[in-house]
Amino acid sequence: MKNILCIGAGYVGGPTMAMIAKKCPDYTITVVDINEDRIQKWQSDSLPIYEPGLKPIVDDTLNKNLFFSTDVAGNITKADIIFVSVNTPTKTFGKGAGKAADLQYWEKTARQILLHSKTNKIVVEKSTLPVRTAEAMERILNSHDNGIHFEVLSNPEFLAEGTAIRDLTDPDRVLIGGHSTESGQKAVNELVKIYAHWVQPEKILTTNLWSSELSKLVANAFLSQRISSINTISALCEATEADVEEVSKAIGTDSRIGSKFLNASVGFGGSCFQKDILNMVYLCEYYGLNEVATYWEQVVSINNYQKQRFVTRMIKSMFNTVVDKKIAVLGFAFKADTGDTRESPAIDICKQLLEERASLIISDPKAIRNAKIDLELYLDQIEFEPDPYAAAADAHALAVLTEWEEYKSLDYDRIFDVMIKPAFIFDGRNILDHQRLFDIGFNVYAIGKPELSHL
Ligand code: NAD
Ligand code: UDX
Repeated sequence: MKNILCIGAGYVGGPTMAMIAKKCPDYTITVVDINEDRIQKWQSDSLPIYEPGLKPIVDDTLNKNLFFSTDVAGNITKADIIFVSVNTPTKTFGKGAGKAADLQYWEKTARQILLHSKTNKIVVEKSTLPVRTAEAMERILNSHDNGIHFEVLSNPEFLAEGTAIRDLTDPDRVLIGGHSTESGQKAVNELVKIYAHWVQPEKILTTNLWSSELSKLVANAFLSQRISSINTISALCEATEADVEEVSKAIGTDSRIGSKFLNASVGFGGSCFQKDILNMVYLCEYYGLNEVATYWEQVVSINNYQKQRFVTRMIKSMFNTVVDKKIAVLGFAFKADTGDTRESPAIDICKQLLEERASLIISDPKAIRNAKIDLELYLDQIEFEPDPYAAAADAHALAVLTEWEEYKSLDYDRIFDVMIKPAFIFDGRNILDHQRLFDIGFNVYAIGKPELSHL
């Protein structure tokens, strides 16, 4: 029985290892983290992250072939295969601040692996990393002449939050990059063997290490580029009375374009898109590819523009001032079905509204705890209220910032009755029935659509 270790028990490490444990009863999987609270929660009834379908899988495997621990050193010694799934955020200091990946957690892990290894190991990059990071990892791991062989592989994770279990159960592909040497290919085969427990062979792609590392950054760049592209068109729609949903449908039915990821919105959020594009921009600049860097940087600029545009439209339609107006924010998570708020567009939008001296009441089914942390400097101007009906009471406006299913079926007649008039709705996710809301009496502003105003 092989021992798998995963370093980093976060949004990727936890669900990914739970899935491997479920599908591969012939492997023992241990997930370690320096964060004691997280490790304790993985072993409790309330998991540290909210992800539909995750709990039953953890319940099925926990303490059978899935273990959580804070003993990083001891588990490194025991492991045959080590996945490294630590955070790789954007650097906030020094050279490359604001763009480059902060590799401090990554490098510390490499040094720990070196320190505590007594036998050969396969080390798998699960975190998203700049292309050629494996080279640095190999240099660190092979810096001691201790007779231990470390083979580094790249196996980026493509799961999206909120659908992680579905994505892991039936992935579009699994990508594994390794060296073309004999030991490199042997290690690649070891990893293929794990995924082959449940993923069809034709979906397991093997490439060289650098292609694998780079493909992860490129996938996120292309996905977020589509969102920024449709968001630019939403601005043009608002100026021309075209409807962005109709345009998305019209272009998305072209099989060369495809229909996914064409939902105009308040902007993309999440811990990956912005970080990974900026990381790629930094790499391009590093290699002197300035035109390429400028091209991709625009995806992030447009995302910021879209958030700003949303707030500007709110203020303009509410008679050019929101001072002391109560605005009920429906949804704070960066997307539905997660409590994660990292880089959520709601953070910037709320901050801009607070700078305009609005008073906010924030509602979200899963993200209020994180929202309080994200907006800790503004708590005197904010209330938090899980019940959307209570949040709407005496509000001048509703702003829908996350596409939670439950917001589609609220009783908007009841909500209209308790709001200050004229009542406004700003649908930042285009999930509501705008004509019906207008008929109730709301002034309705959706992304990339003509306004429906009684004024
Ligand atoms: P996360 O912050 O949720 O989890 C990372 C964990 O690593 C933390 O719990 C942290 O305490 C732990 N850690 C850091 N240094 C450590 C060390 N030296 N020893 C032990 N534990 C350590 O991050 P995440 O969202 O799971 O992302 C992890 C990586 O996966 C990132 O590179 C990210 O870009 C990538 N990724 C994330 C997603 C996603 O949806 N969140 C999807 C694909 C890829
Ligand atoms: C993303 C990638 O999809 C995933 O493959 C990668 O592993 C991690 O990064 P994630 O950030 O979890 O996943 O969610 P995703 O579904 O991609 O959504 C990202 C953001 O884009 C969200 O804020 C979402 O609301 C927004 N979005 C998505 C849009 O605004 N419009 C769309 O059409 C799709």
